[in-house]
Amino acid sequence: MKKVLLGAAVVGALVSAGAQAQVPADRSIKYRQGGFQIMAIHFGRINAHIKGERNLTPAQLEMNAQVVDTMAKVVFEGFVEGTDQSANTKAKPEIWKEFAKFKDGGAKLSAETAKLVAAAKTGDKAQLQAAFGGVGGACKACHDVYRNN
Ligand code: HEC
Repeated sequence: MKKVLLGAAVVGALVSAGAQAQVPADRSIKYRQGGFQIMAIHFGRINAHIKGERNLTPAQLEMNAQVVDTMAKVVFEGFVEGTDQSANTKAKPEIWKEFAKFKDGGAKLSAETAKLVAAAKTGDKAQLQAAFGGVGGACKACHDVYRNN
């Protein structure tokens, strides 16, 4: 028992020493990754509806689209300078070398997610599908350039 406790204390000390040096970067990384995860889940629900795997009500469709739209705006707050220097991120250093261009990708995403909200409000599947494709294209365009896969 004593040995286990001692081991835990040593591990705890190492973890907190490591964490202390990295707190700001890791917090930003977790923030943006968490935001992307939420965004992807709600985007996936809309996809399931389009494919006929789920049957969402207009209110549910709109809520999911709103979450995607909101996350598309907030995730970019997590791209704080210097947060490419971590083993926990897939963000490429190029982001901070050409930040205006990267932010442009974010603006394009927001423009498409706004259309997704509008399409969700109509409840029309063809419109939803077109808007979904536009958003998906914006995701991919950025990932291809700025994310390590
Ligand atoms: C302007 C650029 C950009 C756009 C647009 C973008 N992403 Fe990303 N995404 C990134 C970057 C960069 C990362 C890597 C973040 C990291 O690891 O720190 C990422 C990571 C992710 C992750 C992984 C998160 C994790 O847990 O590691 C998911 C899921 C994701 N994006 C989904 C999406 C979806 C869905 C869209 C479109 C609706 C989208 N992204 C649009 C740049 C973008």
